[in-house]
Amino acid sequence: MPAERALPAGGTIGIIGGGQLGRMTALAAARLGYRCHVYCPEGEGPASQVAAALTTAAYEDEAALAAFAAAVDVVTFEFENIPAASVRVLERLVPVRPGWRVLDTAQDRVVEKRFFNGLGIATAPWRAVNSLAGLNQALAELGRPAVLKTTRFGYDGKGQSKIGADDDAAQAWRALNGAPAILEGFVDFEREVSVIVARGQDGATACFDVVENRHKNHILDVTLAPAALPAALAGEAQAIAAAAARALDLVGLLAVELFVSRDGRLLVNEMAPRPHNSGHWTMNACQTDQFEQLVRAVCGLPLGSPARFADAEMTNLIGDDILTVPALLAEPGAHLHLYGKAEARPGRKMGHVNRIRPLSSF
Ligand SMILES: Nc1ncnc2c1ncn2[C@@H]1O[C@H](COP(=O)(O)OP(=O)(O)O)[C@@H](O)[C@H]1O
Ligand SMILES: [Mg+2]
Repeated sequence: MPAERALPAGGTIGIIGGGQLGRMTALAAARLGYRCHVYCPEGEGPASQVAAALTTAAYEDEAALAAFAAAVDVVTFEFENIPAASVRVLERLVPVRPGWRVLDTAQDRVVEKRFFNGLGIATAPWRAVNSLAGLNQALAELGRPAVLKTTRFGYDGKGQSKIGADDDAAQAWRALNGAPAILEGFVDFEREVSVIVARGQDGATACFDVVENRHKNHILDVTLAPAALPAALAGEAQAIAAAAARALDLVGLLAVELFVSRDGRLLVNEMAPRPHNSGHWTMNACQTDQFEQLVRAVCGLPLGSPARFADAEMTNLIGDDILTVPALLAEPGAHLHLYGKAEARPGRKMGHVNRIRPLSSF
């Protein structure tokens, strides 16, 4: 895209969502001379603390959305579960990157699986499930163990349950309260990996290295960069992410989570069209981090180099982990990022620490 399409420094980026991903996006935007205006229902929080302006309103409030659109030059998301109708309201008034079609695909696990399979990209075997009879049929077809998930609004393992050999399917179904669901065959994976690709307005893509993710209590605990994968498999994961971003005509970031099966195949688990927790390591180990890359993409700037100059280990600080901060501050090579959350509730992401080991190839 020609340079005149780029948003000049001093312009304002609208960010939907008020959490830590918005905070780190706003900090990256500030480095490039932009202002950020945060829109979220919760009021003051991690993102608004470092932004120039805040709108506190429901995601369904069309008047507030219109006023927000009038106050910003471009809109992006740090949170993707906002109603498609609201995104359409914004899109009539201001460029929205990525657009509603991307969010629509990523918000629903059935639509998402169909999208990947339609590109010839493998996932776990799955069935859409809308009744107990449908669940029993799907269990008969896919076998046990299997994982039952709500199609929408799941995160950090919420809205899902594993159905093992002796588990009661009816109970698993009741727990969802009638929400539309998907049953997935359980993948006995060797490891979980993810990859983040940025795509600019000109269609250029830049992929970060593939990383390995380890979870604790269904919440991301540690990310290891790079993942210990054969180069061909890592390249395949990057190609999957780039193909998905192209097919969605996405401008921004796309994070793709994958399973590596014990026989060395990649199966896509899910995607997120925004910065991702498994990309926080890039803040201290890459030439351009995921947040700056998002800002560059949505503002029409050229993408930066995603090259990794260090090995990195990112550890989330969850709940009381925040008590380790004094020790982390004293640790050489530990880069601390805190999100400004006042209260350390169990399961709450308070910050993260990146430990880096520079490569010796300089
Ligand atoms: N089909 C599956 N087979 C094996 N493990 C799974 C499967 N689906 C999910 N999991 C495990 O549960 C975690 C959370 O599931 P995911 O679909 O990524 O939902 P969330 O939106 O909560 O991140 C995954 O990272 C993985 O460890
Ligand atoms: Mg996930």
